[in-house]
Amino acid sequence: MEPRPISQRESHISSGEKFRVAVLISGGGTNLQALLDAATVGSIAAEVCLVISSNPEAVGLERAKRAGVPTAVFRSKDFPDLPSFRRALLESLRDSGARLLVLAGYMKKLPREVLRAYPDAIINIHPALLPRFGGKGYFGRRVHAAVLAAGERVSGATVHLVTEGYDEGPNLLQEQIPVRSDDTVESLAARVLAVEHRLLPAAVQAFADGRVRSQGGRVWVEPA
Ligand code: GRF
Repeated sequence: MEPRPISQRESHISSGEKFRVAVLISGGGTNLQALLDAATVGSIAAEVCLVISSNPEAVGLERAKRAGVPTAVFRSKDFPDLPSFRRALLESLRDSGARLLVLAGYMKKLPREVLRAYPDAIINIHPALLPRFGGKGYFGRRVHAAVLAAGERVSGATVHLVTEGYDEGPNLLQEQIPVRSDDTVESLAARVLAVEHRLLPAAVQAFADGRVRSQGGRVWVEPA
């Protein structure tokens, strides 16, 4: 059986129309900024059509507003119950016309309804070489502290497909960097973040190009 492109399976993108991406954040949004910048300079043929934050104070919301991208804050506590929160979140994503959802520092679990509505079309960026140093509890500084504590010689960043478990979906792209003997959590985090800012736009471009393939449960990115 021919491997199928997973990003354009149901899409009918007419020429000139950009590949629409919704980005979900909870904090600083430097990865969001990398996508906004890449879209502005045309190094990705995609547009960020919506930014959703789980946190009304997220600095990333300002980044989106500066770029003229619509924003929304979704917190379950602002809704009468969980089903109405989930419905509203899904509706907002659907209304945006996004073909791909990008979790860029999003600290919440996505509702099952959203996972089902976007099969093979939700990605997350993680600041380590998954499957190592991932899963519940591995976020922010903790990831880099664990890498240093384990005496790892390499670290890096991973873009993976999102499934129900934390950081569990198949890897799509990964880039390694050496860990230096004098690295601190901060210095390692900064170098990994620079990698993330390249890797995430590259992953979005792969989806926009229809170069993300799946066959028999395996997922990979074809070279450009
Ligand atoms: C990044 O390190 C990303 O890998 C992780 O959360 C962090 C988000 O950073 N999932 P930013 O908000 O994009 O600056």
